Amino acid sequence: MFLVSRISLRGIFFTLLATLSLLYFMHFYGILQSERVDIMVDKVSQVKIPWTYGTSIGDSFRNSELTLTNHKRQQAVRNAMQHAWAGYKTHAFGKDELQPISKGGNVRWGDWAISLIDSLDTLKLMEMEEEYLEAKEFVRSMDFGRVTSGYMTQVFEMTIRALGGLLGAYELDEDPMLLKKAREVADVLAVAFEGSLVGLPVSYVDVNMKKPVPTAQVCIAEAGTIQLEFKKLSQLTGDPKYRKIVERASDVLETATKYHSGLYPMYLNTVNGQYDHSASLSIGAGADSFYEYQLKQYILHDKAEEKYKDQYVASVEAVKAKLVAKSDSGLLYLGQWRNNMTVFVREMEHLACFYPGLMALGAQVLDRPQDLTVAEELARTCYLSYKTTATGLGPETFSFSEPGQLPPAIDDISDDILPVAAPLGYPKIFQPNKYGITPVDTRYILRPETVESLFILYRVTDDPKYQEWGWDIFNAIEKHTKAEVGYAAYVNVHDVNSTGNWIDSMESFFMAETLKYLYLLFSPTDLISLDEFVLSTEAHPFRIIKNNETVLAD
Ligand SMILES: *[C@@H]1O[C@H](CO)[C@@H](O)[C@H](O)[C@H]1NC(C)=O
Ligand SMILES: *[C@@H]1O[C@H](CO)[C@@H](O)[C@H](O)[C@H]1NC(C)=O
Ligand SMILES: *[C@@H]1O[C@H](CO)[C@@H](O)[C@H](O)[C@H]1NC(C)=O
Repeated sequence: MFLVSRISLRGIFFTLLATLSLLYFMHFYGILQSERVDIMVDKVSQVKIPWTYGTSIGDSFRNSELTLTNHKRQQAVRNAMQHAWAGYKTHAFGKDELQPISKGGNVRWGDWAISLIDSLDTLKLMEMEEEYLEAKEFVRSMDFGRVTSGYMTQVFEMTIRALGGLLGAYELDEDPMLLKKAREVADVLAVAFEGSLVGLPVSYVDVNMKKPVPTAQVCIAEAGTIQLEFKKLSQLTGDPKYRKIVERASDVLETATKYHSGLYPMYLNTVNGQYDHSASLSIGAGADSFYEYQLKQYILHDKAEEKYKDQYVASVEAVKAKLVAKSDSGLLYLGQWRNNMTVFVREMEHLACFYPGLMALGAQVLDRPQDLTVAEELARTCYLSYKTTATGLGPETFSFSEPGQLPPAIDDISDDILPVAAPLGYPKIFQPNKYGITPVDTRYILRPETVESLFILYRVTDDPKYQEWGWDIFNAIEKHTKAEVGYAAYVNVHDVNSTGNWIDSMESFFMAETLKYLYLLFSPTDLISLDEFVLSTEAHPFRIIKNNETVLAD
């Protein structure tokens, strides 16, 4: 869902390992020749799923003690949000992000108060009414026609955080001011479509000059994760133009030549609309939420558009057949292919940990119980990536190299901007733990994807184990990342010396997503019922547009 951190990380990683890279490379190819990649064969197990969800039915058979526990846990999450918000309000109000260690604020996103906007619906859901109203007053005063001088706005990031944040708050509150501001943001970002003749958005716009910044390539997450936000805006404003531009982008992604059905190379050329076939086939950074929006576009329009269902079914089948692998320790994980499916990398990103939740949602909505077993296994791997570290926090990337082997070489390097300052002296190469999980990037930057999957799996299966797992993760977050002011990203999840590991960064997704998903995990299931809402990739709740409100032909 967030591609920038990952790209920069790879740059840093590569630099530090440059001297080892040749050795790696030879070693890695040796591994590939001698070992067959153990791709999971889908064993359909006929799990009985309670096919009702998002209602209070699940609550009736939970005993009152558990309800009380959940209520206490939910309040603990709310207290965490109050602490995070208080830090932001005191030290960074109106800035993009709180810097929890230096106790200041940054304008990393061009000075659009991005943490404040991204948090609006979380404040509303948690009934932090005073804070919500104060934040909303700030939004009223904002001018989205300008950014910090010289700043190039990332269209994907600002669509999911700013446009999505305003729309999510509007869905819960219906204040017309929020919709007006959402439209201002969309009009500024839509300029990106003027940068490509084939109907793709380019990655950046110059907001102050109202011009696209031409880029040769765009990744599928950028071109394919703006659809929910723009379509929702069309529904709410009655103006079809937003929906039309993003539908065209979806069509380009679909019609360009692909060699592996259901899997899409990470990059497309913005001039000819064709894929770069040497790019990764992956569920991680640069690709992730594109796959998410295939299913969620289908849900948003209340199952009216079959083509998105077909696209999701093709991709989930391909993911199960080609990307889900089994480690020697028996854990399922999501690896990635490079170079037109000739090199398999046994490495999973924290970002890819949203996918088990997506599969579970698809299992529910499309009546595909055969996906649920795989979803549950993948979620367990993501949980174990937390559970098996000294802090209980999960690493940014982990691999399944065998003991004594080095992690696979990292070969897709980008000089993209650096959102989080990389700590010096990192990374170290660690021995795999008993599950064979080898940390590659040891940071935990307060990301949501694992708790997101636990939330959806809980809603779909009603299995309280997912609440227990989420509670474990929440406690690790409290214990190790809670600073005097706000919460801080973490350098090394294997080192329990918290203060020595803090990074001066609290990304907006911590309040927008991580804390929201944890809160919803312990809520009665009619709060943001998944029968009524679809959550955007940034966890903003959009009401499902019922069939009889859908006007698709114009
Ligand atoms: C990619 O692989 C497919 C199938 O293996 C093959 O048909 C195709 O020609 C390859 N494309 C390129 C550009 O290498
Ligand atoms: C923890 O890290 C801090 C900051 O680097 C350092 O001053 C302190 O001595 C460390 N504590 C322990 C117990 O290692
Ligand atoms: C759509 O259907 C729902 C449920 O039947 C109904 O409540 C609603 O008023 C209808 N909306 C329109 C625009 O006809």
